[in-house]
Amino acid sequence: MAEQLNKMEKLVSLCKRRGFIFPSSEIYGGLSSCWDYGPLGVAMKRNIKDAWWHTIVQSRDDVVGIDTSILMHPRVWEASGHLSGFSDPLVECKKCNLRFRADELKEQLCTACGSPLSDPRQFNLMFKTFMGPVEDAAAVVYMRPETAQGIFVNFENVLTSTRKKLPLGIAQQGKSFRNEITTGNLIFRSREFEQMELEFFVKPGTDMEWFDYWVNARMEWYIKLGIKPENLRLRPHPKEDLAHYALCCTDVEYRFPWNWGELEGIANRGDFDLKQHSKYSGKGLSYFDESISATIVPYVIEPSAGVDRSMLAFLADAYDEEPDKDEVRVVLRLNPIIAPVKVAVLPLSKKDTLTPLAQQIYCDLRQSYAAVYDDSQSIGRRYRRQDETGTPYCVTVDFQSLEDQAVTIRERDSMKQERIAITELKAVLSERLAI
Ligand code: GAP
Repeated sequence: MAEQLNKMEKLVSLCKRRGFIFPSSEIYGGLSSCWDYGPLGVAMKRNIKDAWWHTIVQSRDDVVGIDTSILMHPRVWEASGHLSGFSDPLVECKKCNLRFRADELKEQLCTACGSPLSDPRQFNLMFKTFMGPVEDAAAVVYMRPETAQGIFVNFENVLTSTRKKLPLGIAQQGKSFRNEITTGNLIFRSREFEQMELEFFVKPGTDMEWFDYWVNARMEWYIKLGIKPENLRLRPHPKEDLAHYALCCTDVEYRFPWNWGELEGIANRGDFDLKQHSKYSGKGLSYFDESISATIVPYVIEPSAGVDRSMLAFLADAYDEEPDKDEVRVVLRLNPIIAPVKVAVLPLSKKDTLTPLAQQIYCDLRQSYAAVYDDSQSIGRRYRRQDETGTPYCVTVDFQSLEDQAVTIRERDSMKQERIAITELKAVLSERLAI
């Protein structure tokens, strides 16, 4: 356990040092549980979102995408149940006023000063703000706590504009906001985060079949992108723990360095959402099923994943250390699809004679892949720097390259080096990166 926590500390330090993740507003002392993604972090996060979009939307005939606004009509949250029920039990220390989630505490005493705690009260997790210049009750709007509701309220728009039949999925990625009582473990639980959600509308009666399908498909996605199967598990929710809208739910969990934690929830939401929005908006949200010549309200299966949590799991799973002579080689064994940089071009020396050829190779490669150019310090140190940020390939340009028009490709995990003709470089990289 101590070793795992030590790993987490090292990962946090690497993320900051190498430009994956920074504390928000750090020069002002930081803002609790808000994070900024640095140059490598934003590239990796984008790769994760692209991989999800490719699997869920682009490569399927039965799913379309959408991008809805963060601020929505306040009635949406009445209909969804968030205004009345999206809360956690909050207790407060009577002496130091520190706040805790009552359901996460082992003892009924303050963990900081040991004093007694108040009785629990329900604390709504939605962020409130005002729309327009007047700050009164009529102008209250909420920052969405999930992207899903933007999909439900557009069900009719998508159906009529695409003329699609059931089963039909609508997918969305975007920011969500929750005023969490307790946060922590870097980007695992924060107050502003990104979700990747799919609402997959099906005919009632086929819902459990699709539920099983999506549970398996989502598990496979994480494995395909490199997470070790032994670090993943499925956790079906017991009936008494189900959210108010869910008929059943299974979480995909990852073995984080501190404990198992939820990466994604797959829920069968039945017809709850469409019926609620029909009731509150007065607009019928239904589907005409030609096979039975009748109008039905579809059921929905919802695989709902967190971008930030996935990223933390990919980073934690990829982090490795191995002995390297008297030192330790730190390597992020990221799948090339999500690695922030695919190839680094490294001239053996800074001498002017090598620069033009190395620059030409770099400019050519970066048209196709995220590439970097690094000519500072020894070649060994440069390899280590790329290993630490997960770059799958380094291309070294040396003096012989000027003679034979060939370069050395070095692979991150095996450190194997191969001589390759410059004319073959792109084809070889494309094949090995599989992108
Ligand atoms: N629409 C259903 C829904 O939002 P959820 O289980 O509350 O379900 C889905 O959230 C996913 O969003 C979670 O599995 C997690 O990956 C991510 N998530 C939720 N709250 C989060 C937070 N405070 N910080 C980071 N990620 C969060």
